[in-house]
Amino acid sequence: MRRKIIAGNWKMNLKLSEAKQIALGLRNLSTPNHIDVMVFPSASHLLSVSEILEGSKVKVGAQNAYPSSLTAMTGEISPDQLEEIGIQLILVGHSERRQFLGESNEICNQKIKYFLSRGIQVVYCVGETLAERESNQTFSVLSEQIKKGLFGVPSDQFKHLVIAYEPVWAIGTGKVASPEQAEEAHAYIRKEISSLFVGAQTIAESIQILYGGSVKPDNIASLLSKPNIDGGLVGGASQKLDSFLGLIK
Ligand code: 13P
Repeated sequence: MRRKIIAGNWKMNLKLSEAKQIALGLRNLSTPNHIDVMVFPSASHLLSVSEILEGSKVKVGAQNAYPSSLTAMTGEISPDQLEEIGIQLILVGHSERRQFLGESNEICNQKIKYFLSRGIQVVYCVGETLAERESNQTFSVLSEQIKKGLFGVPSDQFKHLVIAYEPVWAIGTGKVASPEQAEEAHAYIRKEISSLFVGAQTIAESIQILYGGSVKPDNIASLLSKPNIDGGLVGGASQKLDSFLGLIK
C-alpha cells in the first residue's frame, strides 16, 4: 500500500517568526504510521526550521535548488549546501516557477536527474492551466510534463520520486478540482509513468501522486478517498498551524 503524504508548501509567504512558530507546533506531532509530513520553507528559513524539526516526524525540503555541486552560480543553492543542513528533499517544477521563472520541462528534467542521482528525494509538480483544460489539452500537457520531465531517469531512482498534480487553475484560487477530476488526472499520470519504459508498470503502481490546489481541512478527506490520490501538496492551508494540523487529522 502506498503511504500518504501531507506536504506544506510555504512558498514566499511567511516571515521567519511565523515559519518557526508552525515548526514548533509540528515538532511533537504524532501521526499515524502510514502518513508522512513534509514542509517546504523559504530558503532563508531552512536552517532554523530544520533545527526545530530535527528528530521529529516532519521532513523539511527546499522549494528549489540548482543541479550542481558547489560552483560559481550567483543566487542559487546547491544540494551540497542543503545536505550540510540535513536537507534531502527538493520541490521541482512548481507552476509558479514554470509560469513566472521560465522553469521548462527540460530544466525540470535536468534538476530531477541530478537530484535523484544523488539520492535526494524529489517532488515533481505537473498540471495544466485553465486555458489548457478548457481547450481539452489537459492530458497532452500532463503527458509532455511526465515524458520530458522524467526522460532518462534510471528505473532504480524512481523510489525517491513523488509526483504532485497541481492544476494551475486550482492553485490559490479556492477552486478545488473535484475528487473525480483529480482522480482522472492521477490515473492518467500513473498510466503515463507505466508507459515510460518496459517494466515501468510496477513503478507506476507504487509511486505516490499528491494533489495540490486549494486543499483545505474540509475537502482533503474526499480527495484522499480516491484510489489514485496519495496525499496533498498544500499551500495556503499549510501556512497556519491550526489548519495544517486539521489537514493531518
Ligand atoms: P494552495 O493550496 O494555496 O492552492 O496552493 C497549492 C500549491 O501551489 C502547493 O504547492
